[in-house]
Amino acid sequence: MTSPAVAFARQNYSSFLDDLKALLRIPSISTLPEHKDDCRRAAESLAVELKRIGMDNARLIDTECHPLVYADWLHATGKPTVLIYAHYDVQPPDPLDEWLSPPFEPTERDGNLYARGAVDDKGQLVAQLKALESLLATAGALPVNVRVLFEGEEEVGGEGIARFVASGPPELHSDFALVSDTELFAPGLPTLCVGLRGMIYTEIEVRGARADLHSGMYGGAAPNPFIALAQILARLKDEDGRILIPGFYDGIIPPSAEELAAWRSLPFDEEQYRINEVGSRQLVGEPGYSVLERTWARPTLDVHGMPGGFTGEGAKTVIPARATAKVSMRLVPGMTTAKAFDLYKDYVARIAPLGVEVAVRLIHSGEPCLISVDNPYVKAATAALREVWGRETVFIRSGGSIPIVGDFARYLGIPSVMMGFGLPDDNLHAPNEKFHLKNFALGIESIVLFLEEAGR
Ligand code: BES
Ligand code: MN
Ligand code: MN
Repeated sequence: MTSPAVAFARQNYSSFLDDLKALLRIPSISTLPEHKDDCRRAAESLAVELKRIGMDNARLIDTECHPLVYADWLHATGKPTVLIYAHYDVQPPDPLDEWLSPPFEPTERDGNLYARGAVDDKGQLVAQLKALESLLATAGALPVNVRVLFEGEEEVGGEGIARFVASGPPELHSDFALVSDTELFAPGLPTLCVGLRGMIYTEIEVRGARADLHSGMYGGAAPNPFIALAQILARLKDEDGRILIPGFYDGIIPPSAEELAAWRSLPFDEEQYRINEVGSRQLVGEPGYSVLERTWARPTLDVHGMPGGFTGEGAKTVIPARATAKVSMRLVPGMTTAKAFDLYKDYVARIAPLGVEVAVRLIHSGEPCLISVDNPYVKAATAALREVWGRETVFIRSGGSIPIVGDFARYLGIPSVMMGFGLPDDNLHAPNEKFHLKNFALGIESIVLFLEEAGR
């Protein structure tokens, strides 16, 4: 027998999709100050929605940056309490001219919904909401106690939620968390994510001359901060992708033999991955590690951009006074953000070329996390996923970061079930981000059955 809530979700699918589109039209880009009001507007619309579907205590919780959205429903006496988490903020949409349809005008094409935030994370957030709505509309009650906590600054490090969670408020008393912000390993393959990399996001600033200088008059005598910056960056990583910061790898906890064996049996074709997902002539990285190990269980270092100097069309002969680089490192279990940042900062100071001043700043950070699968909630999740997808669940890690997940374990003492429905080619953070519509529909059904199973 199909659950009445699942039947409700199927009947109401097209209005559910309309509600997702309405949320996607709000450009809640957390990193851009000019979109601060849009972030609040998105948060307010979610509080209204939570109230409408029958949740109690729906409200915004202000932080120093964008508000959290909270609601609860605590009438399932004797049943466990789940903390449902997702984020309503999105990444900037640039480069705009590469989008086939505008990023904030959600557009359906070939079974997908295209928009910034479609999969990361509004589509998954709305799947959670619609699962709750379907349960409340059909049973007038939920099978477990539910607390909802939506965040609006995940994409900028999540400091507000981290402070809230660390303060251990009574609102967050729960037995486990449901986090919907990850992906399936392959289309149609139900997946739970059990590990995330941490990260430190930093900025290096190099200053040379007092002001911009004519490069003919001063070139040869004045230090060039971009050359100095390039020399610093070149010494952070070798050609094999090994990070050269002394002590950086100390203490890393490698995956167990069983976990590595499980990864080897995942349906993964390196050449397909190179061609279809990465699209480069060759893959790079540390020799001796598979691609999955390199992206899930090894730290890495990347440069995101180098603001400064002359970047317009044509030519300008200037020696810029300053150069900057946005540099981040992904961390794995056994590493901490504090230690990684100290080692990095000291090393950069040591290798700074003569004639320039170098400053290293931490923009945001999040600890790596590994999640236990030895609990009844994971069993409930795999049972629900088996029912909806007709297959056994695979357990994977992800190279991405969701800073708050580690804090749920650290400060609330609860495990997270990371059940997400993205696909590897959904273009997260990139032009033409999409959510596969079938995954939106089955995502709702999976969450409905998971909550029902958790309440059994
Ligand atoms: N949802 C992603 C993280 C993710 C991506 C998990 C793919 C699993 C699979 C999340 O929104 C994200 O992008 N996080 C940022 C965090 C950072 C800004 C602190 C990231 O990983 O870059
Ligand atoms: Mn996300
Ligand atoms: Mn993201």
